[in-house]
Amino acid sequence: MKQELAQEPGLPGVLSVPRYLQEVYWWAYVHPNAIRVFERQWLVNAILWGNFSKLRDAALQALGPLQGRMLQIACVYGDLTARLADGMSQAASLDVVDIVPAQISNLQRKLAGRSGITLFQRDSASLGFADNSYAGALLFFLLHEQPQTVRRQTLAEALRVTAPGGRVVIADYHCPSRWHPLYYLFRPVLALLEPYALDLWRNDISRWMPENIRFHIESRRTFFGGLYQLVVLVRE
Ligand SMILES: C[S@@+](CC[C@H](N)C(=O)[O-])C[C@H]1O[C@@H](n2cnc3c(N)ncnc32)[C@H](O)[C@@H]1O
Repeated sequence: MKQELAQEPGLPGVLSVPRYLQEVYWWAYVHPNAIRVFERQWLVNAILWGNFSKLRDAALQALGPLQGRMLQIACVYGDLTARLADGMSQAASLDVVDIVPAQISNLQRKLAGRSGITLFQRDSASLGFADNSYAGALLFFLLHEQPQTVRRQTLAEALRVTAPGGRVVIADYHCPSRWHPLYYLFRPVLALLEPYALDLWRNDISRWMPENIRFHIESRRTFFGGLYQLVVLVRE
């Protein structure tokens, strides 16, 4: 496995961590103790109210046959990337990007000994890969962490680098129905710890999708009383 921290010519050598991550998510991804605390499958499952495996498996299934060059945009605690790699055909390869170098090192440690996976330090809002260069891309609980401008750029970049016919699979928060007990209990928690997440409660995700790239929404499903959504885009 190859870990690339250098950028392509014309891009800076090591990218700085965006302000929203440093200010809002320092405790989850940036602080030196973050990985020690959060890199536990049971904990990420608890944070998703017991739905991690269900959402992981649904997202991987939605990507379709894992053939060609696949892209995972942002590292995820737990075994998502290992499961993605397990499902790849022999000829397939996986690139994973993240903006925080410690997250890349952590993923490298988790994937030790596996081949066909390349890790890059990249900003999801400006991936730096060629147009149409991936067979499919996965955004697993990244968009709710981003301010609106960055979220919009991330979606545009995911679609730009995905080749026609390829899927961009998004798993993320969604507004639960009003009878859901978490509608009232979880909202203040999100407002405190993950303030941008409530954007996805208030708006349809299509609000941040690009207008200048051709794609269609192939499917959308909600899970757990509507608290989570799985949206599949197909590049045209
Ligand atoms: C995929 S999201 C959340 C995943 C989920 N909450 C989990 O269990 O890990 C977390 C990752 O997104 C990364 N990230 C956030 N903003 C990014 C950006 N602009 N570009 C690349 N990676 C980013 C963070 O560094 C972090 O590793």
